[in-house]
Formats: sequence, structure tokens, C-alpha cells
Amino acid sequence: MTFLIDQPKLDGEVNEKKISNSEEMDLVLDGGFVVPNANAFGHTFRDYNAESERQEGVENFYKTNHICQTYDFVKKMREEYGKLDKVEMGIWECCELLNNIVDESDPDLDEPQIEHLLQTAEAIRRDHPDEDWLHLTGLIHDLGKILLHPKFSKLPQWAVVGDTYPVGCAFDDSIVHHKYFKENPDFKNPKYNTKNGVYSEGCGLENVLMSWGHDDYMYMVAKENKTTLPSAGLFIIRFHSLYAMHRSGAYKHLMTKEDMENLEWLKIFNKYDLYSKSKVRVDVEKVKPYYLSLIEKYFPAKLRW
Ligand SMILES: [Fe+2]
Ligand SMILES: [Fe+2]
Repeated sequence: MTFLIDQPKLDGEVNEKKISNSEEMDLVLDGGFVVPNANAFGHTFRDYNAESERQEGVENFYKTNHICQTYDFVKKMREEYGKLDKVEMGIWECCELLNNIVDESDPDLDEPQIEHLLQTAEAIRRDHPDEDWLHLTGLIHDLGKILLHPKFSKLPQWAVVGDTYPVGCAFDDSIVHHKYFKENPDFKNPKYNTKNGVYSEGCGLENVLMSWGHDDYMYMVAKENKTTLPSAGLFIIRFHSLYAMHRSGAYKHLMTKEDMENLEWLKIFNKYDLYSKSKVRVDVEKVKPYYLSLIEKYFPAKLRW
């Protein structure tokens, strides 16, 4: 049996922790990143202060993330994964594949991951019945986590999940564990460490490079495969982990009027992204035809990934 419990005051997508009945503690970041209980800490829940263990896991995760996510690293990742030469599959196929990944890394999870995706989508559908594009966005926004699939890529967790932020300009103070950016080579590079960096005022977030992860990857996949989702849908997919923007109001100087409008949709979406909080079961087979019809409306049958 697994209990999902809310964490107090965590930034970004670090939104749930799982305590299994064996009293081992795993830390789950956005449902994808698991801090191994034994390898990392070598102790069980009983022996250790759970809160400090958790904090340590999150902090180590962000330390590596903040040191390694440089402008050059992001360019290389976009070049490599922008080729979209890894596999061909449909959106629903990817949902099912993602299901397997989470099952592998999280054997105690008592509900399939696909239900979590559908919970987000269905909650949006209930409150915004006319915005079918937003329902589909809810379903697919995390599909980029397919990068964690061992047969798909060998990317470490810090390059797939967690909060994201622009690179190529100063890291905003509001970014979680900001102090670790001091060890990022870009931090001291005058090309990249000013307010605008390589960008210009009001250039639009579309032209800004983001730290690499499942968000930017899924955005590229959707865009390159010629989705007909509106720009707000693509905006949500690409920036849903940019908490410095949607929670702290940072990076406005790089945004256009359209970005500001899309941000309002992102704020709406964000309320539903905490899928772990609604434990309402979704009957996958019952809602599947509806989502297949949306996929058909907004995506080709097969996408290049
Ligand atoms: Fe996400
Ligand atoms: Fe999510």
C-alpha cells in the first residue's frame, strides 16, 4: 500500500513524497524523479529525520541541475533531441509507455501513471468544458518525461525534471536553491550574466533558451510534428515548470503581450497540474475515446520523437 502525502512548502514540481509500507522513504519529484532510499542515504525512515533527508535529496538534485544547465549544454541538448530521430509513435502510445517507466521506478505505486495524466485532464475538462485544447494539454504536458525511459535516452534526472529557468541571461533570484548557480560557468560569464544576457528586452519567451528538461523537449516534439494546438497550449507545455515566472513574476522584461496572455492560461492550468492531490479514480477505458478524438484533432497519427 502506498500513501501520497502533501509536502509543506516545496518549490516547483517537487510536490509529493511517498512512504511505502516498508517504511522506506522515496522522494518523488514531479512523479518522475526518485531519490533512492537506500543508495543515497543508507537509512530507513525510522532512523532518520524524514524532513532533512528529503531536503537533502532535493537540494542535491538542484545543486547538480544548477551547475550543469549552461547555455552550451542546452544548445547541445536541443541539437541532439531536436533531430527527433529516436522513435516514431502516437501520443496515446507515449502515454502508455510513460506508464511503464513510472511503474519501473516506482513499484509501490498503486495506480497507473496514465490515471494521473487523465486526472489532470479530466479536472480541467470538468471546469473548462469548452477548452478542448486545454484538456489535451493536460494529458500531454508531461510526456517529455519519456526521456527517462532507459531505452530512449541516458539522460540523468536533473536534465529531465524539476523547475526550469532561462539560460543565457542572469538567473533570477527567485529560482529555487539559487546559491548553487555560483558554480555554473555561465554565472561568471559576462555574455550570459546580465539581466538581458544574449537576449533583448521584449524579445519573447519563444526566443529564449530554457534549461533542458521534459518541458522543452515535449514542446519541440509538439511543434516539429506540426500540432495545431493554440499557442497557449504550447506555452503551457514549455513553461509549466518555470515557477520563477508564474509564481514569482520574473522575466517579464523578456515577454511579449502574447506571452502575458498565455501566462494567464498557464496559471489556470497550474492549479490542475498537482494531480497527486486529487485521488479520484479515472476509468481509462471510458474516457479514452474522447482523448483519442482530441489527439486526432490536434496531432498526426504518428509523431517523430
Ligand atoms: Fe512537468
Ligand atoms: Fe505535471
